[in-house]
Amino acid sequence: MSTRLRDKIIARIRERGPLPFDEFMETALYDSDDGFFAGASPARPEGHFVTSPHLSPVFEGLLAAQARDAWHTMERPDPFVVVDLGAGEGALARGIATAATSDEAFARALRVVAVERGEIAAKHLASSGLTVATSLADLEPLTGVVFANELFDNVPFSLFAGDEEIMVTEEGDRLIWQSREWRSLRPVSKRSGEIVDQVGRTLARGYVLIFDYGFSGNEEPETVRGYRGHRLVEELLDDPGSSDITGPVDFDALAARARSNGLQVWGPVSQRDALMALGYRATLDRMRADQQQREQGGAWRGAIEVYAERGQAAMLVDPAGLGALKVLALGTKGLPAPRALS
Ligand SMILES: C[S@@+](CC[C@H](N)C(=O)[O-])C[C@H]1O[C@@H](n2cnc3c(N)ncnc32)[C@H](O)[C@@H]1O
Repeated sequence: MSTRLRDKIIARIRERGPLPFDEFMETALYDSDDGFFAGASPARPEGHFVTSPHLSPVFEGLLAAQARDAWHTMERPDPFVVVDLGAGEGALARGIATAATSDEAFARALRVVAVERGEIAAKHLASSGLTVATSLADLEPLTGVVFANELFDNVPFSLFAGDEEIMVTEEGDRLIWQSREWRSLRPVSKRSGEIVDQVGRTLARGYVLIFDYGFSGNEEPETVRGYRGHRLVEELLDDPGSSDITGPVDFDALAARARSNGLQVWGPVSQRDALMALGYRATLDRMRADQQQREQGGAWRGAIEVYAERGQAAMLVDPAGLGALKVLALGTKGLPAPRALS
């Protein structure tokens, strides 16, 4: 294990005093040499976490259906831009472009852009043929849909216990919490608000759909978590840069910020409900019919593959898993609710 990042953070604390958690998180995840996302592609299934677009192409198919539906609602603008914000490996961006080819007119108008701040990941995306930007601020005002899947839980946040901000400090050669109680704290993300402001500036006309873990209304936020190799990391501060750090997204804060940017807000609803509204059941019925046809034709290997794909797809709507993610939709003035939230 490299202690370079930890040593760098300790040196900064010795020089300037304890760090707010958002600054620790910014360095641990995005330091350009040793941050967790400085590495090439952490969002692989064999990597540290699995997200919906990596789990099943049914997710991309349903989001492509949402984009096409929005295109019709908006009277078929050309170009129509779909942004995958925080694209990671770009499974969603690529999947939407592929799924869109079933409708020639839509595919002609469609421009898919992957926005990814990790430089190495962005280079990978570009080399796979996608149009890529490292910041939303680099895009011209656009008409279309912005999808942000599991972006905001990785955007740095501060932690508060009541009015007290919880800081990270050092002891010997270790990083420690300045307060004993750091688990049941309220995350406050200034940077998430800034991303919503940027979305407000970039989206001339259209929708934003945000898929993430988080809380709204009277729900209690879950704790800050670290993940390494699919395992929960107990000691979040021990080895910065080696694990993902995620926190529950404050959906009410995102909604309020969107409203202050003049955007309409719908939801949040669960990912399960959103995918159901986009035609999840009909997609699964088609897959089952395909499987049966293969069985009847004696194509057993193919039939087993489709059976396995149906199982993967079911995880997208599992109320105890990804189906419990929240989906918040934003839209420019005058548009009706997007199909996923109608
Ligand atoms: C958990 S990954 C999700 C990747 C992908 N959306 C998926 O569902 O598999 C979050 C990604 O967002 C990127 N990211 C974080 N902040 C960003 C920002 N402000 N703009 C663009 N990308 C960002 C990170 O570098 C990381 O690749």
